[in-house]
Amino acid sequence: SCKNLCSHHLSHSSVEMGSVDAAKKAAAVKAVDEYVKNNFVLGIGSGSTIVYAVERLAERVKLENLSIVCVPTSFQARQLIIQHNLILSDLERNPKLDCAIDGADEVDAKLTLIKGGGGCLTQEKIVASCAKQLIIVCDFMKDSKALGEKYKKGVPIEVIPMAFVPVQRKIEEDLGGKAELRMAKQKAGPVVTDNGNFILDWIFPEKSYDWESTNTKIKMIPGVVETGLFVNMTHKVFYGMADGSVKEKS
Ligand code: 5RP
Repeated sequence: SCKNLCSHHLSHSSVEMGSVDAAKKAAAVKAVDEYVKNNFVLGIGSGSTIVYAVERLAERVKLENLSIVCVPTSFQARQLIIQHNLILSDLERNPKLDCAIDGADEVDAKLTLIKGGGGCLTQEKIVASCAKQLIIVCDFMKDSKALGEKYKKGVPIEVIPMAFVPVQRKIEEDLGGKAELRMAKQKAGPVVTDNGNFILDWIFPEKSYDWESTNTKIKMIPGVVETGLFVNMTHKVFYGMADGSVKEKS
């Protein structure tokens, strides 16, 4: 059988999977094939696109007998690593990573990211900060000129639970817009992150921002743990396209 995902498989799978899922898979497969090398310590991101990356990684580890150590960015990533029989590690044993592969909710023209749609932004940013290269895998829907153009849910911000109201007020007073407490399905209660915190989604009012200084302003508010703004961290983005091809930007 064909080791790499060839165009036949892609066009076949795009019919079965729908073009967005096929795009996610194409991007994930290409990134894993191009960037993962034997003996790598690899950061494993979170989200639906990463599932395809881990599947491909497990396939390559088996086929090529690779030795890859995986550091998860979330409970989901940890489960994926365990389910695929990959080697699970952490930042205590492996504080230096060769590469981190992760998804994104939106990527602007400067490769600034909004992340945290799944609420895993803090661990994702910590792991990415320990990696030589952050590789992003996503579908064509995430590609935008300016943040907010495609992803409409705002910037996720992880906050200490007892501080969520003061942080909300400070963001709205200092930066404008609305900072909404993310609620679980059926509004059963707030979403609780893997770190036991809450998420505010900041719907920002302007069309364009200096994201570096905006990120710093938010991070300086007491009670903010981390933001989903990833500024100057991305080495390369693989965008899966609707036709099954993959576009790269660095
Ligand atoms: C989770 C994230 C994800 O990487 C992001 O939400 C993209 O997910 P998907 O691949 O499902 O679109 O940042 O916190």
